[in-house]
Amino acid sequence: MKLIVANWKMNPQTVDEARTLASKVEHGLLVLNRADAETVVCPPAVFLPAVFHALHLVKLGAQNVAAEEQGAFTGEISGAQLSEYQIKHCIVGHSERRAMGEDDEQIGKKIHILLKLKIHPILCVGFGAKKGAAENTVKSIVAKQIRAATAGLRLTKDNLTVAYEPVWAIGTGKPATPAHAADMASHLRGLGVGRVLYGGSMDGKNAAHFAEAGLDGGLIGGASLKYEEFLKIVLAFSS
Ligand code: PGA
Repeated sequence: MKLIVANWKMNPQTVDEARTLASKVEHGLLVLNRADAETVVCPPAVFLPAVFHALHLVKLGAQNVAAEEQGAFTGEISGAQLSEYQIKHCIVGHSERRAMGEDDEQIGKKIHILLKLKIHPILCVGFGAKKGAAENTVKSIVAKQIRAATAGLRLTKDNLTVAYEPVWAIGTGKPATPAHAADMASHLRGLGVGRVLYGGSMDGKNAAHFAEAGLDGGLIGGASLKYEEFLKIVLAFSS
């Protein structure tokens, strides 16, 4: 099944806005009546309880999880705490977190914790690949990131979703070409990944091209904050 994930990042600023945005996505999905694409919203952690109560068809996801199961880790949120809100998906290794110093070892620990709790990890890869880099260089960067994050884990078609996110395309309004994203997706599938999303300036206008190119969905930042735009993306991936 196709997967469309809203990554709200550190937005919005009030709980009322978060609740309203979530309700609009929920209502829009109800009207669209499409059950063939799985839709997930990942709000800031502090808004998880409020958004949890606003969703029914739309699934609730998290943007991050601690690399330790419990203990003295100021400011962190454990996988078990996420489970309290029936979270079934969690983004890991987003480039914005890697840029803050998150490394492959921590990302690997997070994936293990999530799988233990039956929360589906969405692993972001592509960090470090420069715009215009040779296709083979990008392929070896993402392969290394997959190997490092899944060390000690038997990859199956179902236990990990990967989002290919070229950093230069994130928040720039300049997405990768669907052909490049599709090429990376087939490379990632060749490494044993079941489902590959594309992320980086996907919007209501270009989503259909990524769907046609064979991507399994999208990880959406900016466009997920405008519910109509986000719903267009969901529609583009619904058959
Ligand atoms: P964007 O962000 O859609 O705003 O480019 C995508 C992401 O960072 O996951």
